[in-house]
Amino acid sequence: MNALLILPLAQAASGETTSGSLLSAQGADLLYLIASIFFILGIKGLTHPRTAVRGNAFGAIGMLIAVAATVAGPALSGHAFDFTMIAAGIAIGAVLGALTALKVEMTGMPQLVAVFNGFGGIASALVAGGAFLLAIGTETSLQGDIATAASGLIGALTFTGSIVAFFKLLDLRSLRKIPGAIPGQKVLNGLLLLGALWFGVQLVQDSSQVSTYYAICAIAAVLGITLTTPIGGADMPVVIALLNSYSGLAAAATGFVIDNNVLIVSGSLVGASGVILTAIMCKAMNRSLTNVIFGSLGPSADGPSADDVYGGKVKGASPDEVAMLFDGAQRVVVVPGYGMAVAQAQHTVRDLANLLEARDIEVEFAIHPVAGRMPGHMNVLLAEADIDYDKLKEMDEINPTFETVDVALVIGANDVVNPVARTDPQSPIAGMPVLDVDKARTVVVVKRSLSPGFAGIPNPLFAMDNTYMMFGDGKKALIELIGVLKEE
Ligand code: TAP
Repeated sequence: MNALLILPLAQAASGETTSGSLLSAQGADLLYLIASIFFILGIKGLTHPRTAVRGNAFGAIGMLIAVAATVAGPALSGHAFDFTMIAAGIAIGAVLGALTALKVEMTGMPQLVAVFNGFGGIASALVAGGAFLLAIGTETSLQGDIATAASGLIGALTFTGSIVAFFKLLDLRSLRKIPGAIPGQKVLNGLLLLGALWFGVQLVQDSSQVSTYYAICAIAAVLGITLTTPIGGADMPVVIALLNSYSGLAAAATGFVIDNNVLIVSGSLVGASGVILTAIMCKAMNRSLTNVIFGSLGPSADGPSADDVYGGKVKGASPDEVAMLFDGAQRVVVVPGYGMAVAQAQHTVRDLANLLEARDIEVEFAIHPVAGRMPGHMNVLLAEADIDYDKLKEMDEINPTFETVDVALVIGANDVVNPVARTDPQSPIAGMPVLDVDKARTVVVVKRSLSPGFAGIPNPLFAMDNTYMMFGDGKKALIELIGVLKEE
């Protein structure tokens, strides 16, 4: 997507006069149509783990066709492509893309997605700005002017918002918490939005002033920061989904600016699927979309300290003691979380599940929609370990059954099993549906310490009478547990 956005910018920068192209406008549009079909097949494929790899390949083929058609097709009227710049852009982009794909860890994916959203946004704003500069002094259309203003506004907002999200997603607690909502936050956001819209109207009325475009981008850039900064606690998934949607909308608007159909189609696909994902995330987190859009999520207050919650109440258990808890158990539910991803413990989890099943114990996996750091994170990891998809139970399905669970085995999950979401209306995660593991007969939590999860708050589950903490790295602790179970 980003490579596609950069191409017309190179074209805009060249400033040369028209020369013949390999493909007519109709030929390019036909290829764009084919590329769009591949994008749709790609999204369809990504809806299920079994077809996801094929879906990804379809998306990549669609993008290749789209880029090829853009380069071979006609340039903006009155200009020509500078193929040296295009080749340089493709080479740099391909090298960076390949290195990133090879180097970034699974746990770093959400940050990567945040940065990609941001790059998509800034590319759209730059391309629309480049086209706007080229068009100064010529007759422009109403549609083009509105689209230019929209590209600048949404693109700049997406860029700065995504950069803030990137830093919040880094596992640096101090950065994640900066600095919270300020009094009048919603009013400030509303005023900034109105300011950007006012300059947008100015641009549409008089498209000869470059300064109006810069003003839109500058105000929107500040708005991106003020919208994203106060969002904390466990609410980042909603923001990432929303920024993803914005990056698509910015691209679609830019498609109208430079009259590029595939950009309009692919941008709309990203925008629409991002909105659907945002709605799913809002439902999962029990948050309102209006609050997400206007940058105010979840109550926040200084809750009880870790000492208050844990002091003298936490019980540690060795692998030998935990192994005994499985004696006579009939139903075990495994609850994976971010820590399982960090420990790369999914294969060990599968080995443990197989061992328990060999003892006629029913084993299921409870999947919280925002466990881990990206949508579907746990599903992907468990599928990678060949765990049968039918054993994965969604929150709504498994929650009413926790009272009949003999052992709930929580592996590296924290916020998604924190009962304060139900009990403390002042908590940053208040109202977020959580997995009710505290209702199981016995709970075993595998993690390295009593450190908080992403929301940064203590978890009373760890201090409950029916909870045993098996401290250690998720993978190592489970390997030890398997060793003990095999000896029995
Ligand atoms: P978290 O609440 O983040 O807790 C993860 C726990 O894993 C930590 O308390 C940590 O404790 C433990 N851990 C880390 N490394 C470990 C290792 N090697 N072995 C064992 N444990 C390890 O995770 P969660 O319950 O999955 O909740 C996800 C959170 O992230 C939610 O707040 C959610 O809103 C947020 N979030 C989600 C997404 C998406 S879309 N899924 C995106 C952004 C943010 P120790 O350090 O003590 O081991």
